[in-house]
Amino acid sequence: MAKASAPGKVILVGEHFVVENQPAIAAALNLRARVLAEVLSGDFRVEVESKNLSQKAVFQREKANKESPLYPIYYAALMTLEYIGLQKPLKIFIDSEIPPAAGMGSSASVAVATVAATAAELGVKLTLEEVSRLAYQAEVIVHGKPSGIDNTIATFGGAIAYRKSEGFIRLEADFTPVALILADSGIPRSTGEMVRRVRALKEKYPRIMDPLYHAAGHLAIEAGKAIEEGDWKRLGELMNVNHGLLSAVQVSNRVIEELVYAAREAGALGAKITGAGGGGNIVALTWKEDGRKVADALRKISRKVYVCDVSAEGVRIEG
Ligand code: MEV
Repeated sequence: MAKASAPGKVILVGEHFVVENQPAIAAALNLRARVLAEVLSGDFRVEVESKNLSQKAVFQREKANKESPLYPIYYAALMTLEYIGLQKPLKIFIDSEIPPAAGMGSSASVAVATVAATAAELGVKLTLEEVSRLAYQAEVIVHGKPSGIDNTIATFGGAIAYRKSEGFIRLEADFTPVALILADSGIPRSTGEMVRRVRALKEKYPRIMDPLYHAAGHLAIEAGKAIEEGDWKRLGELMNVNHGLLSAVQVSNRVIEELVYAAREAGALGAKITGAGGGGNIVALTWKEDGRKVADALRKISRKVYVCDVSAEGVRIEG
């Protein structure tokens, strides 16, 4: 039996625009998805069980049910088995602290931890690049055309600037003066569907949308500098501008706006949608000492509020 875990994430700036090759910035959170892999005896199959979803399913190649919410997890394990070249029957058990469909990278973290646990159970050591690449293949199954930022941050941890065509660079940052507060809108949504809608809007109005995408790219570069310089006020301001750009591409709604404005009015340095929008979570950046005040204000209108730290650690094999 082998265990692995991977962190959830927050996109600080640049979601959606990153799908069209603009830079974006993500940070790993101290919430983790834990996955246990165990080789079984008997015929080839992958048994997947998720504690959080209270679901179990057995997958066997052609007979595998693609509609099952557990299918991407099976697919991550299968990709790993095929890559390694060993077709062993397997059990995968998931226990995750990361809420699903909430913009916190749950599916990517589970995929990354599944790849790592599967390889470890088979006694194979994969590089981090290999883990991230295999998890990306499972992300394609879930989201259609992901940028790759979610599996990258879940694998490598810390804070990164990411660009689809170039990969990522690590940001040298000390997040200790600030807190990240996430508040759930209570509206679930599909990342794949939101990405499709935003791309359709871009294709319909290219002359309006192209400059907006370029602005988002410049914003991400500026935000990366602010993070490395520890200029949190500037980062907050840029997050607010980024939220405006995300509203412009129609991924906000009334509930999200209420959360964003409540956070700003309670003293957040900046607040915005994080992830695909349309629901999910907002993220607020606050001074550490203001974290509780902002969290309390958000608790009045959100059922789930998380006060998070940035986690330096990416995927890890658990001892
Ligand atoms: C999802 O966490 C972020 C999006 O930009 C999609 C992607 O990058 O694949 C909305």
